[in-house]
Amino acid sequence: MTITTCIFDAYGTLFDVAAAARLAAAEPGRENLAAIWPKLADDWRRKQLEYTWLRAVMGRHTDFWTVTQDGLDWALEAAGFSDPELRERLLALYWELPAYPEVPTMLAALKAKGLATAILSNGSPDMLAGAVASAGIGAYLDDTLSVESVGVFKPDARVYRMVTARFGCTPDDVLFVSSNGWDAAAASGFGFRTAWVNRAGQPMDRLPARPHHVLPDLTTIPELARP
Ligand code: LAC
Repeated sequence: MTITTCIFDAYGTLFDVAAAARLAAAEPGRENLAAIWPKLADDWRRKQLEYTWLRAVMGRHTDFWTVTQDGLDWALEAAGFSDPELRERLLALYWELPAYPEVPTMLAALKAKGLATAILSNGSPDMLAGAVASAGIGAYLDDTLSVESVGVFKPDARVYRMVTARFGCTPDDVLFVSSNGWDAAAASGFGFRTAWVNRAGQPMDRLPARPHHVLPDLTTIPELARP
């Protein structure tokens, strides 16, 4: 079995989702945010994801930009902030999240080994295009696949099936890489080889399938995909 195709989750995997709150907190006049930004970033991310799962279960899909705003509104209220300018600033920063430092080199190494590469993300196509462009990684990606094509969020199997349809491959040709334990687990259940990038050292999710590899960052992905 040879991996031909390497697929990446976007938010938290290639792009640093905590950067929006961290960068805003470093701006002049944001002392209140500086004191609590890690909690705001965590609440924002957790609610954003919860809303994707709940909407998938409820059959009430909307785009990821809407759940990103809804998650932020919950997190700002929980933090006691009522500041429309801060809200707009955090949302603007979400469109230009930095990639993790090892991302360009890692993607270039995959291309040098002849692998197909793509993003598979809950993100809406315009959000993903913004993030890919601001991180400068478009040249290393063969495609950016958004769940908007199937109208349901991860971990619905219709999302993972987009990869085999796009690349004309079988699931075991694919290495799927995600920083979300639940995403990597569900992708294993679908039949992909998977790597969970566990930067925060979190416990393994108790789900029906498990990731095949657990990595501290993305640097070893090229060797894993094709030794
Ligand atoms: C994504 C989210 C799950 O990019 O991080 O799909």
